Amino acid sequence: MSARIVLPEDAALTEAVERLRGGELVAFPTETVYGLGANALDAAAVAKIYAAKGRPATNPIIVHVASVEQAKALVNTWPRIADELAAAHWPGPLTLVLEKADGIPDSVTAGGSTVGIRIPNHPVALELLRRAGVPIAAPSANRSEEVSPTQAQHVADSLGAFVKDLLILDGGSCDVGIESTVLDVTCDPPRVLRPGMAKLSLPPSPRPAGELVQGVARSPGQMLRHYAPKKPVVQLLHSETYFQQEGDAWLALPQDPHTAARVLYAELRRLDSEDSVARIVVPIQPDTPAWAAIRDRLRRAAQGA
Ligand code: TXA
Ligand code: MG
Repeated sequence: MSARIVLPEDAALTEAVERLRGGELVAFPTETVYGLGANALDAAAVAKIYAAKGRPATNPIIVHVASVEQAKALVNTWPRIADELAAAHWPGPLTLVLEKADGIPDSVTAGGSTVGIRIPNHPVALELLRRAGVPIAAPSANRSEEVSPTQAQHVADSLGAFVKDLLILDGGSCDVGIESTVLDVTCDPPRVLRPGMAKLSLPPSPRPAGELVQGVARSPGQMLRHYAPKKPVVQLLHSETYFQQEGDAWLALPQDPHTAARVLYAELRRLDSEDSVARIVVPIQPDTPAWAAIRDRLRRAAQGA
């Protein structure tokens, strides 16, 4: 078991496409986090994603496409709101959940009737999608429940021991830094299943965590413990009442939410790997829409700590 990090030059992209067409996995950068990709129309290839991640079979996988036309081919119904949202947000960090077309493997949708789709805003991801000519199913390229990878080395650290000879296309550090907003547009009004950095002009739609619809978790990313370092994370609710303990490391985030999201996971991984750190303490973040996705990830990372 090992991983190979390569620059996304012509020969590497050619090899990546051969692997995808041959039913193998390839890790690639997106603007949000790195993905672990397989040909979305190849059920056996998608099964390899679940094995590599140790992912529960109940958690559906997002399908990445290069164009709106390619997205439409994957769905039964393309509502007008999907047109509006795609025009406003794609390529970008917004996943639309739609009624799936026949022919999409059950492993992609976890047996459900919907499929999550997005066009990623990253030149390497887009080039890979165009050359591959098939939709690419890709969850974040980490073991299940771990912090998502925002650098190629993170992918190697997470999955190197679990995938044989994994090819990782190196696109540098991800610009957005946390996973896409997942929006269910099969209902009216649409519902946010996972907050992200996409700026939506929709009314807020809280939903209970871990809700099951027809046996499929509608947003398993909302399972409480998720995106978590190995070390305990303590999310402070009232900064003034916390008494510092030996081994505490404070997670200092930039003031601006976009910069904070960009560095969040790399910081969590860095603190997690430092021997002197026993616990990661997170100061309170502003309770504003711009910070909602970051607060969501930190709340999940702190679960069970
Ligand atoms: O930014 C991202 O979304 C990254 C990059 C690689 O695109 N991908 C990602 O995938 O975060 P993953 O598998 O780690 O998280 C996908 C989330 C999960 O919460 C999953 O339950 C939800 O999207 N999801 C996928 N398909 C769905 C569907 N059909 N219905 C409801 N939720 C879905
Ligand atoms: Mg993930």
